[in-house]
Amino acid sequence: MNSIKDQENLSQKKILLRLDLNVPLKDGFITDETRINKIVPIINFLIKKKAKIIIISHVGRPKGKINKILSLKPICENLEKKIKKKIKLFNDNIFNLKKEDLFKNPLDQIVFLENIRFYKEEEENDKSFAKHLASFADYYVNDAFSCSHRAHASVCKITEFLPSFAGLQLKTEINALKKVTTEIEKPITCIIGGSKISTKIGIIKNLIPKFDNIIIVGGMANNIISYKGNNIGKSIKEENCKNEIKEIFETLEDSSCKLIFPEDVLVGKNMNDKSKIKELSNITDDDLILDIGPKTIKKIKDIIKISKTILWNGPAGYFENPNFANGSYEIAKTITKKNRDGSIYSVVGGGDTIALINQINLIKDFDFVSTAGGAFLEYLEGKELPGIKALN
Ligand code: 3PG
Repeated sequence: MNSIKDQENLSQKKILLRLDLNVPLKDGFITDETRINKIVPIINFLIKKKAKIIIISHVGRPKGKINKILSLKPICENLEKKIKKKIKLFNDNIFNLKKEDLFKNPLDQIVFLENIRFYKEEEENDKSFAKHLASFADYYVNDAFSCSHRAHASVCKITEFLPSFAGLQLKTEINALKKVTTEIEKPITCIIGGSKISTKIGIIKNLIPKFDNIIIVGGMANNIISYKGNNIGKSIKEENCKNEIKEIFETLEDSSCKLIFPEDVLVGKNMNDKSKIKELSNITDDDLILDIGPKTIKKIKDIIKISKTILWNGPAGYFENPNFANGSYEIAKTITKKNRDGSIYSVVGGGDTIALINQINLIKDFDFVSTAGGAFLEYLEGKELPGIKALN
């Protein structure tokens, strides 16, 4: 993989820079800036090299349609403040844009293209879309490890049309995860939570041979709770994944890995409700499972206490409402306490998990913080990520 860091003479070269600025937004405000902070070094590096930068990113899942709520404007403004430079955001239809439109003012050094997922061609990994994007630039740089598991046009296809390089953050993330996967100390525990069930459910089976314990929490756990014959009320779940869960339990039969999922939960009638502890057998049709219960927390804490390595991806509950943040906080506190006395190696990943640990100021107490969620898990699975393969 060629690194942009080793590339000579970037002066006045137009660089198409794929970033993952998919930060959590609430009413147009950024609730966690970590992913933006992490890409400041690549921007400063390219500025110093006097390159012209064209930033591409997505935020959210607009599914190929323009959605004003998912504009990159607040993110662009935030980055402007961080690097103290003006950035021009182009919200024109990308198909009408030409290379010469982008830096009409010779003083402009950075431009932003609006949310790339406003175009359905992005997720379709469309060849002519990628070719059109490539026509804006001289070089392509991927500094978006966290979306390199997506075979999308601005991550994969684009590399067929431009000399392509790895960015600084992408290299850092890969090197750190390589170290984790090769120098790992047992017992190893992996905690998987969050709400992106479809991304993660298929991965669990392949993780079983690699871990001593797999703990499933958050929206992820609902499918398992339901598979075990419990009512999950109105809680989020993935349709049609019974077979995948069956395979998970079949794989466990021939393995020493333990799968832990909630024994009790906290429910509410809506996302803004107060919490109520419930046994799995007492969940009613109008309940929403929004956090793990005290028995489950105790069980998870006991496992963390005997683990030497821990990888955590995805919150245990709807932590945006403090009434449902306790499960995630307890997990974070137990890991970081052990980390401070040097008895565990801890890696945490994913946009929401980072937002959560930032909320309680514990981010410095993990050994490595990956910006990646789904990409992090697919990397652990041993898969070559499509975006990385394309760079190679
Ligand atoms: C992430 O947040 O994991 C990446 O930005 C990818 O987002 P996606 O799951 O919507 O593809």
